[in-house]
Amino acid sequence: MASVDVPVALLGYGTVGAAVNRLIAEGADEIERATGHRLRVVRALVRDADKERGFAADGGVLTTDFREIVADESIAVVAEVMGGVEPTGDYVLELLRAGKPVVSANKQLLARRSADLFAAASAGGVQLRFEASVCAAIPVIKVLRESLVVTNVHRLLGIVNGTTNFILTRMEAGASYGEALAEAQRLGYAEADPTEDVSGADAAAKMAILATVAFGSRVELGDVSYEGIEGIRPEHVAGAREQDAVIRLVGAATLAGDAVDVRVGPVLVDRHHPLAAVEGAFNAVTIEGDAIREITMAGPGAGGIETASAVVADMVSVLGTTGTGFLQNDAVWRRLDRLPPGDLPCSYYVRIEVSDRPGALAHVAERFADEQVSIAQLSQHLTNGSAELDVVTHTAPAGRVEAALAAIGRLDDVRSKPEALRVISERGI
Ligand code: NAP
Ligand code: HSE
Repeated sequence: MASVDVPVALLGYGTVGAAVNRLIAEGADEIERATGHRLRVVRALVRDADKERGFAADGGVLTTDFREIVADESIAVVAEVMGGVEPTGDYVLELLRAGKPVVSANKQLLARRSADLFAAASAGGVQLRFEASVCAAIPVIKVLRESLVVTNVHRLLGIVNGTTNFILTRMEAGASYGEALAEAQRLGYAEADPTEDVSGADAAAKMAILATVAFGSRVELGDVSYEGIEGIRPEHVAGAREQDAVIRLVGAATLAGDAVDVRVGPVLVDRHHPLAAVEGAFNAVTIEGDAIREITMAGPGAGGIETASAVVADMVSVLGTTGTGFLQNDAVWRRLDRLPPGDLPCSYYVRIEVSDRPGALAHVAERFADEQVSIAQLSQHLTNGSAELDVVTHTAPAGRVEAALAAIGRLDDVRSKPEALRVISERGI
């Protein structure tokens, strides 16, 4: 097979960009053997071309001028690894309209502007791929779009943020929240602004992308309700351990009839569920569908070289496939409603601090009963005149559990606002 020289460009040359250049340089022979293409990074856009880099680019490759990339007709594909929504979004739109295929690792951009981006790709007659935007090294988009094409996927659970999973597992080993976050930043897992990670916004963007692809209906960041791990304290981690469970930041996308619910939050995961075994910066996605029952994929969810592996794979896929057929087009083919948030069936773990006196427990139980919420497990710890109740509910509509908790919070016997986490067990949320 004759070798074809393929000039490519990067938008960004940071943690991921430098690793993409390194993988392309070090893996050039493998890529050429597999595809007949020899990739070469000829331009990389940065803010500061003089900054020292983890893997040095060849002389003249780094540029601060986007025009040098969009105007260079020899460039066959561009990897967007600079992050942010602007000016990144406008750059990507311009590249696509100019007929340059783009692969992106940018979940915030995809979760906010995918309709515009795919319209531009279609107008330019080129592909837009985004495997690295979700779960770094795990090829989950490819599996959803290609391997599971005839499976009616109806639920997807994911640990999709490496930084928060790293922090939670370090807290299980005794580290403080602050120490664990600093370590995740040092290792290159965290976003430039780590608030994106710890607030759940990064995971929410990834779940919007996964739900869009899984259900074939556009789900944008604004459709995803999310909560982060900033409020998780060592006592929550210890409380989970007593329930033979761990706390994980989990995204859940559910298709119920013709409606969709997508949410992200800290969840109590039963020790026997596959997601409980996911530690450090690893990610995992469990996909449930008619023909497959359940598939769980796990792997590195953050890190420069791990993410670069998916970016380079997308570049190779673009070069190996021509046109914009079904599997490369926008995954959206239908419009589904949003499920009213209170209708989603969930099981909850609830901590309630009550006065240790007759009737306190009965009043709490009555409020659950008023909302038709059944209790699956109950235990209590006594300390200095108060009792901490640990309650696990059977599955019930989220709105009914929330109404019961609001009523419980108003009881005279109750000393502080009840705290609740959704539960994932072998039987699901
Ligand atoms: P990073 O280390 O901060 O690198 C960003 C790069 O983009 C830098 O080279 C920066 O230039 C350049 N850049 C940023 N804004 C620019 C602008 N306005 N004009 C020109 N250049 C600009 O970020 P990263 O960790 O590599 O992440 C890049 C993307 O990959 C993000 O979308 C991120 O969410 C995604 N991602 C990251 C990981 C991970 O583990 N790090 C995993 C999956 C996905 P300078 O170097 O000159 O500042
Ligand atoms: N900051 C992200 C994470 C990088 O921790 O998962 C991967 O998208």
